[in-house]
Parts: sequence; structure tokens; C-alpha cells
Amino acid sequence: MSKLVITGGKKLEGEIFIHGAKNSALPILAATIMCRGETIIHNCPQLSDVEASIKILKYLGCKVSQDKDTVTVNSTNIINSDIPENLMHEMRSSIIFLGALLARCKKTKLSFPGGCELGPRPIDLHIAALKKMGVEITEEHGFLNCSVKNKLKGSKIALSFPSVGATENILLAAASAKGKTIITNAAREPEIVDLANFLISCGAKIKGAGSDNIYIEGVSRLTPCEHVVIPDRIAASTFMSAIAITRGDVLVKNVEPKHLSMMLPIFEEAGCKLNISEKNIKIKNTDRLNKISTIRTMPYPGFPTDLQAPTMAMMTLAKGTSIFVENIFENRYKHVCELNRLGAKISVEGKVAVVYGVDSLSGAITRCTDLRGGASLVVAALAAEGKTEILDISHIDRGYNQIEETLKNLGADISREKDISKN
Ligand code: UD1
Repeated sequence: MSKLVITGGKKLEGEIFIHGAKNSALPILAATIMCRGETIIHNCPQLSDVEASIKILKYLGCKVSQDKDTVTVNSTNIINSDIPENLMHEMRSSIIFLGALLARCKKTKLSFPGGCELGPRPIDLHIAALKKMGVEITEEHGFLNCSVKNKLKGSKIALSFPSVGATENILLAAASAKGKTIITNAAREPEIVDLANFLISCGAKIKGAGSDNIYIEGVSRLTPCEHVVIPDRIAASTFMSAIAITRGDVLVKNVEPKHLSMMLPIFEEAGCKLNISEKNIKIKNTDRLNKISTIRTMPYPGFPTDLQAPTMAMMTLAKGTSIFVENIFENRYKHVCELNRLGAKISVEGKVAVVYGVDSLSGAITRCTDLRGGASLVVAALAAEGKTEILDISHIDRGYNQIEETLKNLGADISREKDISKN
């Protein structure tokens, strides 16, 4: 077990390169099993969740090789159609293999993903949609047994909520199903568009990804392709929060500014100067940040729930009071207690968090509660006076590639050390 040790107060300066999007790479890796042959994925981030996906692919029988940010998956021979419980539990989003395995093997057995650190994470929308597409699903002792008698069949699916995971599983199942599928109230996240573009490159017929309605006409066969994963908008914005709170000046490279269209005005409202070009954003802040208008998390293109915690950390030192309303997950304020240990003044009442900006934060021992909550502690610690220790950083490694190296290159005083209390 490792911990991060940060001595705050250093301005972040220089250039950073944003890695590929975790939330694109994971469903795309799952989708590789649908095209028999060798698929090459570029800009695939080196994260523990990606390693967990690769372990699952290898268990299923794929040959996988990795050269820095390029992953090659050969899925010619699939030998297993189930995923063992220990592999399912290594990664929250392993449920995304459900649609891909049904498309390739016509059956699968997975353990139920169950609850997670963000509260219960039901999959009822995934299950209802797949049942409509002809999948027989039984639940037994925490396992899902799924099978398709003949072929998956296209269907009209109206989602009661634009779930990202459910939209992805339906896309995967529908791409090679018999007939047409229409998803209404589909998730519109850029990662959905990336998955659809990957499938289109493999020969799928998909229209409308990125809008409410996605039309898929099943094809008989998908063939391997080469694909470049989009940049990680959540990592980009997390680092921008760290730059803003430390009054830094950094060129953030390899970003897609339109994927950050909800965030960029918030940085400007807080007082940052932005210079936006096609693939880069220069961000500079010289003063104490201003408070921002009420943030309400929403499905894309609304404010992303994944940025609630890092943005909140940025606001702990702002002039005035900022308000956050978390509408997507029930239990996504666990980082608040940890931020308060650093001297932040945040109170939570149900879905609402009130952040009273304070004059200073001070170092303390803190613990990651989840991936983005962990990132919020890093943002706050970089601006806190003195030394902060952040424990349980395996959460952070799920979504940020060697975060300490990236921040060290920008001038932060940060190191990864052994957490001997865990031995
Ligand atoms: C994905 C992202 C995650 C992000 C989330 C919301 C990946 C790997 N993860 O997670 O980082 O925070 O989108 O943007 O891409 N729900 C149901 N029933 C279902 C499915 C979802 O009630 O069958 C509810 C969830 O409990 C949650 C909400 O819908 O309250 C959003 O979930 P969803 O969009 O499915 O998120 P994930 O795909 O799990």
C-alpha cells in the first residue's frame, strides 16, 4: 500500500499532456471481443482499471500486449464466457462486458456488481433492455446467468434515465443483433460517441450517438480496427482545478475543449484566464478564486458528477460561499469529511453541499474514499500549508496515471511513499 505525501503551496507551472479517457477505454476494451482478430487501441491510459480489463480479456482467452499507451487485443479464440467474481470485483465497470459477451458467446455468467463507494449501483436498466433484446436472465446467489436462444434481436428501448453504462451495453448488444435497435433517452457523453465510433470503424451501423436517440442496425460481423481513444475530460478538469487553486500557469495539452464546455465558464467565473485552442488550453490564475454559481450535477452536457469533488476542493479557498447539488449518485460526498480535516468548511444536507470559502487550508492525514474524492484531496493538499498525507491511493490510480509524476513535473512537492501502517 502506498500513500501520497504533499507539501502544499507550490504554484503549478509548465505543460502537461492529458492521457486517454478511462471511461472510453474500458468499454472499447470490452468491445474488442466482438471482432475476431487483432484490434489496436492507441491513447489507452495506463491505469489500474485498464489493467483489470486486460486481466478479464486474458481470462476470456484473448492475447493482449501493451506498449505504453497502445494496447493490442487478439480475440480470435475466446475460451471462457463467464467472468470470475474476483475479476468482476477488481473493477466497478466490469458490467460493461455483459453486452459484449452476449454478442460474442450468446451466454455469460457474471457476479452482480453490487453496491460501491458511491452508494447502490443498480443495473436494472441494463437488464430490462437486454431482456427486451431476447436475453434470458436469471439471478442466483449474487450471480447473473444470461443466455440468448438464437440471436440477439433489435428492439425499441426507452431508458427512464440516460445511464452511461446501460447505453453502452445496449450499443454493444445491438451492433451485431438481428434487426434495428432504437435507444431513446440515451446517454450523450463523449465516451458514448467514442465507443460508437470504435464500433463503426469495426463495421457497425450506428447513427445518432451523442444525441438522445441512437439508431443501430445490426450487422452480421464486426471486423478488427485501429482506434485512438479521446482525451480524458475528467482528468483534464481535475488538473485545471489544481492549477487554479495553486495560482498556477500551465499549458494543458491533448484536450478536447468542446467536451469541457460546461467546465470552462466555471474556471472563468472563478477568476482564471483561459486561452483555448484546438487541442490545448492554457490556464492561468494569479489571485484568490471567486465563488461560483450553484453547481448541479447532471447527465452530459450538464455538469459531470465526476467533477463535483475536484471542483469542490478548488472552491474551499474561494472568496465566498459555493453550493453543490449532487443529482446523479446518492452517496457522493464522502470526501467532504476528508476535505474538512484539511481545514475546509463544508456542510452537507442530503443532496446539497455548502462550501464556505476559508482563508487557508493546513496539512493533515487524510484518506481516499473513492476515485474522484481522492483526486479532490490532492487538489486541496497542493494548496494547503504544510504536509498532507493521502492514504488509500489505489482509488486514485484507477483514474490518473502516476498522478505524482504529472504534478512533480509542474513543480509540486509530492511523492509516493510506502504506507507502513498497512503492513
Ligand atoms: C459512468 C461512469 C462514471 C460516471 C457515471 C455518471 C464509466 C466507467 N463510469 O458510470 O464515472 O460517474 O457514468 O456520469 O463510464 N442507474 C440505475 N439503474 C441502472 C443504471 C444506472 O438506477 O441500471 C443509476 C445509477 O445508480 C446512478 C445513475 O443511474 O444513480 C447514473 O448511472 P450511470 O450513468 O449508469 O453510471 P455508470 O455507467 O455506472
